[in-house]
Amino acid sequence: MDGLEELKATVENRLSSIKTMEDLNNVRAYLLGRKGLFSEFIERIRLLGKEEKRVYGQQINTLKEATENRLKEIKAGLEEKRRQEEEKASRIDITLPGKIPIIGKKHPITKIFSEIIDIFASLGFSVAEGPDIELDYYNFEALNIPPHHPARDMQDTFYIKDGVVLRTHTSPVQVRVMESQLPPVRIISPGAVYRCDNDISHTPMFHQVEGLMVDRHIRFSDLKGILTIFIHEMFGDETSLRFRPSYFPFTEPSAEVDIRCVICRGEGCRVCKDTGWLEILGSGMVNPQVFRNVGYDPEEITGFAFGMGVERIAMLKYGIDDIRQFYYNDLRFLSQF
Ligand code: PHE
Repeated sequence: MDGLEELKATVENRLSSIKTMEDLNNVRAYLLGRKGLFSEFIERIRLLGKEEKRVYGQQINTLKEATENRLKEIKAGLEEKRRQEEEKASRIDITLPGKIPIIGKKHPITKIFSEIIDIFASLGFSVAEGPDIELDYYNFEALNIPPHHPARDMQDTFYIKDGVVLRTHTSPVQVRVMESQLPPVRIISPGAVYRCDNDISHTPMFHQVEGLMVDRHIRFSDLKGILTIFIHEMFGDETSLRFRPSYFPFTEPSAEVDIRCVICRGEGCRVCKDTGWLEILGSGMVNPQVFRNVGYDPEEITGFAFGMGVERIAMLKYGIDDIRQFYYNDLRFLSQF
């Protein structure tokens, strides 16, 4: 049985070559399997004499047991190694920087709306709203705009059907509010308006804020006072303004309000067309005919109204020269506000 030393060496050699579970199973089969090396040796022992059988049998059994134990150890070692690798692979690396989500912001028009509303809220005005799809009566007739008035031209007004239009201004809300309540009235009305126009300074949909203050003894000086406070809050105390005579069918007298050009400070530039002034709103004392249309007595009641374009104010405040920028939804533009 000189083969015993050889067997020992082979066992040692095979065991130390094990790197994976697959190796382990192969080696086990090769050594301990039914047709493995040990079986072969045990087979040979049968042919020996009684005494030799006992001695070699014992030695082979000892070696076989030792081999089984070593295989168990190696298996445990491989399993532990695999467990550690799995753990390492699934571990969350909290030192990696996180993904920063893009946070939405208010649209510049929405921001200007809020600013305007806040300023007038602090002066005691509350918010009223009216429909975008409006009756011809409220958009024109009740506001003293007769059927032949040029503002009704098909070029300006989107007609839905006979007698129904997309409102061309927020002034119809004045009429709706006064129809539904008695004086005193102190409201502003923010909202979308529509005109068939599309170029660098016009979009078919834009926004206005309407204002209306009605009571006994409301005077033109109240209009001037309120609008002066508004413009100083909106554009800064140092901003000068002027009231320029104008005409609207639903106010008498009427005035447009200009502010000193915020771009050139009055020097004259492209934005103010070298006048040094920028028109920012229309206003006036409510025309007695409008009061009669809503059932108020113009002998008792007076008031003023004004209307301003929100995009125009945003453009002047932020120095934007193309009104269409507000509606391209380009995040590079929008994220600046
Ligand atoms: N509705 C007018 C416009 O759209 C603005 C305005 C409102 C003028 C109220 C006077 C009074 O141009």
